[in-house]
Amino acid sequence: FGLLKRVDAHLGEYLSKKSRTKESFSDNCFSKSSSNSSIVTDEGLFEQPEPMASNTAIMEKILWRRSLQLHAQQQAWQESLEGRGILEFRQSLPAYKEKDAILTAILQNQVLIISGETGCGKTTQIPQFILESEIDFVRGAVCNIICTQPRRISAMSVSERVASERGEKLGESVGYKVRLEGMRGKETRLLFCTTGILLRRLLIDRNLKGVTHIIVDEIHERGINEDFLLIVLKDLLPRRPELKLILMSASLDAELFSSYFGGAPLIHIPGFTHPVRIHFLENILEMMGYRLTPYNQIDDYGQERMWKMSKQAPRKRKSQIASAVEDALRAADFKDFSPQTWESLSCWNPDCIGFNLIEYLLSYICENERPGAVLVFVTGWDDISSLKDKLQSHPILGDPNRVSLLTCHGFLASSEQKLIFEEPKDGVRKIVLTTNIAETSITINDVVFVLDCGKAKETSYDALNNTPCLLPSWISKVSAQQRRGRAGRVEPGECYHLYPRCVYDAFAEYQLPEILRTPLQSLCLQIKSLKLESISEFLSRALQSPELLAVQNAVEYLKIIGALDESENLTILGRYLTMLPMEPKLGKMLILGAILNCLDPVLTVVAGLSVRDPFLTPLDKKDLAETAKLQFSRDYSDHLALVRAYEGWKEAEKDLAGYDYCWKNFLSAQSMKAIDSLRVEFLSLLKGTGLIDGNATSCNTWSYDQHLIRAIICYGLYPGICSVVHNEKSFSLKTMEDGPVLLYSNSVNARESRIPYPWLVFNEKIKVNSIFLRDSTAVSDSVLLLFGGSISRGNVDGHLKMLGGYLEFFMQPAIAEKFQSLRREFDELIQNK
Ligand code: CDP
Ligand code: MG
Repeated sequence: FGLLKRVDAHLGEYLSKKSRTKESFSDNCFSKSSSNSSIVTDEGLFEQPEPMASNTAIMEKILWRRSLQLHAQQQAWQESLEGRGILEFRQSLPAYKEKDAILTAILQNQVLIISGETGCGKTTQIPQFILESEIDFVRGAVCNIICTQPRRISAMSVSERVASERGEKLGESVGYKVRLEGMRGKETRLLFCTTGILLRRLLIDRNLKGVTHIIVDEIHERGINEDFLLIVLKDLLPRRPELKLILMSASLDAELFSSYFGGAPLIHIPGFTHPVRIHFLENILEMMGYRLTPYNQIDDYGQERMWKMSKQAPRKRKSQIASAVEDALRAADFKDFSPQTWESLSCWNPDCIGFNLIEYLLSYICENERPGAVLVFVTGWDDISSLKDKLQSHPILGDPNRVSLLTCHGFLASSEQKLIFEEPKDGVRKIVLTTNIAETSITINDVVFVLDCGKAKETSYDALNNTPCLLPSWISKVSAQQRRGRAGRVEPGECYHLYPRCVYDAFAEYQLPEILRTPLQSLCLQIKSLKLESISEFLSRALQSPELLAVQNAVEYLKIIGALDESENLTILGRYLTMLPMEPKLGKMLILGAILNCLDPVLTVVAGLSVRDPFLTPLDKKDLAETAKLQFSRDYSDHLALVRAYEGWKEAEKDLAGYDYCWKNFLSAQSMKAIDSLRVEFLSLLKGTGLIDGNATSCNTWSYDQHLIRAIICYGLYPGICSVVHNEKSFSLKTMEDGPVLLYSNSVNARESRIPYPWLVFNEKIKVNSIFLRDSTAVSDSVLLLFGGSISRGNVDGHLKMLGGYLEFFMQPAIAEKFQSLRREFDELIQNK
């Protein structure tokens, strides 16, 4: 109780004291409040423009002189030998042929939409055209072009490419800025940044003073940030009539954007790709000596079967993969071979047919095919890392003298990034395992073969049940075509789709925009921090507005967790959460961890929740893997098990034995490394909020206390709670919204027969056939009572109502009443303190 008093005292007073000292939280939050203020910043991205010299005539002269210098530099580079070579390459790109048309259209219109095939030169050339024409018109020193990218890796790689095309170092006229990293100087006129960075700049500089051109790239992806940015920019355009907005898309559905911006003109860059031969699963199986044929027949059980696998006289030895596919198809016992039955084959589990097929095809290509890089699309970071582990033990694919096995995903370090674009040594085949990043935002030049798993990890959201899921789901036809197109850039290519043709035929034409399929909590917080009007009104002006129910759910959630007060205003906690670009629940854990000075394990928990599950469960060694996980568990918590596993890995790493440690314990070494770097990133973000000392390198002055961490986890994950009901032999679980729920089999709690706590808090529930909870931690009544919901004073009544609802639902009313009065007493005590 004493501890909890301290918690509340800390949270309420600490945060409000901080907010009093930081001007950014004054009433006009995030606006420029005092002279050359540098606003609370996680990365110095809110720097104010340099003060103008008082004498404008002198200033103009300086700028004019600088522009002339830039002009001379550009001329010199283009006349040099290397510069000429690069210019020739640039001129061969389809975008170059449209250069004049594009520049004229930009001059004549405030908004322009450009579409063109991936690789035609939109991202690298168009911003350069603008920069060069500004320099030619001797406005080079005043122009200020911002080009947004949906992902950090593309912002970084593209800026580097553009700088080298201009014969410069990064940070001269071309720079980049992504979260926690950047390279730009005073001379930078063209900045590539993530969409998130531009949104954060808008927080303090609503009119984007000094910016002359904004280029929003990859709008066809319809990411939530891009859709949000477009609403804000649409409002900004009338206020800044001289500001130019250019939208770039890889697909042809650009009319939607044109009509959104009042009929803005469209320019399409015609492209060229070589033909790509397509193989669906049927064809791949045929290659292996099997045939997947449609057939209509009533089987012994009276079921009509439409498809069967028949063995042809096998041309090759019956391979392990073919039998795996056969087994999987048989196991499905399907009536018809529809996308749904294919789905139920769970083909993308490691070691199941998906990975085996990939391994088979890769070794087939390496042994039999002509030279050329292979691009393998899998669902996400998770699959990349387990697939890489699997392939590395293959005699050919794991041999660095024959294969250069690379990965391409959002967490990639810059050094590894460069390798993707480099040509491999003679006789070595480059294989790149990638997420859908390489679909449109990154172009690898020498790709000839593409393997497409047909899925991408995307969030989906069921507003009715208020259940978010991050699951691999089928891509759209447009995405499949994009992936295929990657094979035909340099010469005719081959694309292997690892699913049957009928599944492809059932794909949706386009993917649903993210704003319609994700929970809107973070977005609502952002809208609030920009001090825009009511959330639902603002979102009603989006390109495609989300359902009202989804908006209401998000607002309700933010109120429950204490980020918004009853009248939908940001609370102090809410303002801090807007500074942490991550799910609010993770941000809450970090904030409380920082305040209670036990950040170290909390950083691990939060980083662990942000990467793939580091605990691997290979299908054939499921038991061994689950037992291995149990040794980290002593306290009915998957989250604490992860903390222990990470700490063990960290120790082992000191002796360079991290990999062995992971191997022995069924852990993913890549995930451990990702956790390690995310911890550093989160720590820097927290320093930016001012909650911890900016010089701190260690963050664990409070010694390890598992109960405290349990409470912090509960603080973050609430209202994701379920009650534990024991019967004679085991226990069952129930949530208020869904009734009975189950645990994922790899949860440490699933192995227990009793859980000596009445509640579990969970990170995620996923609807498959039943509802499954992933990653749970057991908590006591008192922890739930005192840490569930908001501890700061803003929303005590709302919280009590909510908690009361839970308690009454699960307990006898008398006990519930007693609990509520306890909590009230607690709050009063603190109020009176
Ligand atoms: O944006 P878009 O997909 O239209 O193409 P881009 O990213 O501007 O790339 C144009 C061309 O530049 C590509 O086809 C590649 O040949 C080349 N490029 C490269 O060699 N290395 C990079 N890091 C980026 C682009
Ligand atoms: Mg591009």
